[in-house]
Amino acid sequence: MRFFLTTAIDYVNSRPHLGTAYEKITADVIARYKRLCGFDTHFLMGNDEHSQNVYKRAVERGMDPRAYCDMMEQEFRSVWARLDISFDDFIRTTEPRHRAAVQKMVQANYDAGDIYEGFYEGWYCVSCEAFKQEKDLVDGNCPIHTNLKPEWIREKNYFFRLSKYCKPLLEHFQAHPSFLQPDVRRNEMLRLLEGGLEDISVSRAGQAWGIPLPFAPDSVVYVWYDALINYAAAVGYGTDEARFSTWWPAHLHVVGKDITRFHTVVWPAMLMSARLPLPTQVFGHGWVHFQGQKMSKSLGTSLDPVDVAARFGPDPLRLYLVKEIGYGSDGDFTWDRYTERYNVDLANNLGNLVSRLVAMAEKYRDGRLMPAGSGGQLAALAEEVFERYHRAMDLYALHEGVAAAFQLVDAANEYIAQSAPWALAKDPGNASRLDEVLFNVAEAIRVAAVLLLPVMPKSCEEILRRIGETTAAGSLRLERDGRWRHEGARELTKGAALWPRAEESVTDNSTDTHQGTPATPGATQAAGAGATAAEADNRIAIDDFMKVELRVAKVLEAEAVPKSKKLVKLKIDVGTEQRTIVAGIAEAYAPEQLVGRTIAIVFNLKPAKLMGIESNGMVLAASPEGGKPTLVAFDGDVPPGTRVR
Ligand code: MSP
Repeated sequence: MRFFLTTAIDYVNSRPHLGTAYEKITADVIARYKRLCGFDTHFLMGNDEHSQNVYKRAVERGMDPRAYCDMMEQEFRSVWARLDISFDDFIRTTEPRHRAAVQKMVQANYDAGDIYEGFYEGWYCVSCEAFKQEKDLVDGNCPIHTNLKPEWIREKNYFFRLSKYCKPLLEHFQAHPSFLQPDVRRNEMLRLLEGGLEDISVSRAGQAWGIPLPFAPDSVVYVWYDALINYAAAVGYGTDEARFSTWWPAHLHVVGKDITRFHTVVWPAMLMSARLPLPTQVFGHGWVHFQGQKMSKSLGTSLDPVDVAARFGPDPLRLYLVKEIGYGSDGDFTWDRYTERYNVDLANNLGNLVSRLVAMAEKYRDGRLMPAGSGGQLAALAEEVFERYHRAMDLYALHEGVAAAFQLVDAANEYIAQSAPWALAKDPGNASRLDEVLFNVAEAIRVAAVLLLPVMPKSCEEILRRIGETTAAGSLRLERDGRWRHEGARELTKGAALWPRAEESVTDNSTDTHQGTPATPGATQAAGAGATAAEADNRIAIDDFMKVELRVAKVLEAEAVPKSKKLVKLKIDVGTEQRTIVAGIAEAYAPEQLVGRTIAIVFNLKPAKLMGIESNGMVLAASPEGGKPTLVAFDGDVPPGTRVR
């Protein structure tokens, strides 16, 4: 069972920012997950060096470009080490193995009759390293680097017959629906292919920084054509055919949404031309913004991941990026939100759970827990969580996988609150029940820590050590170790707080009235050593509320549900997708009054069938007793997909 996984290789004209780090962190989570599942995993990353911007940057710094790239390699490696990125190989496009592979591929494409000489005249954005069409420019500037005007170039170029591969590519997309994920990206590419493809320029004239074309050494290979070949070069294409046949094709290319065209159109066409198998899958992740703004080196709005990791360590950052951003969608990083999530998920929830268990085990059982009882509801939930996690992670719905694991953490906290071990400990007649409760909590923590290992490797290893797991983290296997175990004594070890609470919490207007402590956004802190005001009435903590994802949606279509007085069927746009939702508002609104309206919905409700129609979500309306519902509306324009909180 092999798994070959790659990320985009980074331009080295500046250090990694949080956006480029996001890609590497999420790919690392996938690599670690695959290892946990027992795959012989090969995780490749690297640097893209033959870019004109890299060359310019070196010249600006008065350095030889090669020496500059050597220095940047160290910078990148040290950032990746700080973030615990576990790549197995790191390729640079100036390495001899890469050069050999590029020359072999270009020659293979040429021999197939797919490269021909021509003349290029048009716009070129140096920051994208891409040819731009006049119609795509925004106010004369690059649509991606909005502060940069592309250069007009006129030069002799070699072209690749991309147009020839339009039909085979369409057929490939149709035969392999999961070739490009998520679906929004796949649909974009299908539209592009349906519109037809033009041949692309694959060389640049008069430049010295790059790999010469084997059949025209006065030109260098266009940087994208060069860069894509890294994936094959790293596993031996052009240098070690036996190794190449062992590892190629790649199972997964993880890349940003801006470069899916290069990976799912240009690269597969190059491979088809060279008669090589195509990668199994490409995942086009979304973009991370910083305080709502696009993160960009050229716009000066980037955030250094090392600075973020300096705050609470790398694991909280990894968790935030994976848990708070639906994989495939865009997301945002703000310091306030980051601190808030750290306090909720780690300080108050998981961290608190571990320290409370260890403290109770020490106090009541001298740090040694024995298997007792059946595991009950917690064990049943663990089984369900395992399945959900496994399914989600296999589909790269990383955020759902992590959310499933956290559900077990939440449940363990609630279980402590309900079973009140401190009360059980007062009566020796409850000794076996106390054994059972403590063992069950330890087991729930163990399972959650195994499931979260790919996301927070160091912390979960430490949690496992503290709760007496004796297998080394690298030898744990999901199927065997990620499920509930009814056996095995546990020796627990005390330690300092894993994640001390950060005082700069921004949600201190929460209603949590926890005794004596500053107001805290955490449902689970309410499950402390005694009953709190929140437990005594039906108030919920902010964390419980945040589980309900309310979103803005726009009604695209509406029709009455046959044989129902109350129900109306709506097709709505929720920002990331379109959905069908059935709402009980037909007595108050005619379908035509609904089309075009902006509404609020519960986004993360499990689907339900109403009059045989699957409804995905719930429309929010004020519903007076005995009166007609009134839809929740917004005071101003809000785009679909906006979260309501
Ligand atoms: N060198 C090319 C890739 C060649 S792959 C054969 C390149 N480099 S890059 O440095 O500009 O970007 C590297 C990766 O980071 C890309 O996948 C890109 O989409 C991703 N990201 C850059 N900014 C990002 C965010 N703000 N958020 C998430 N990912 C982002 O493109």
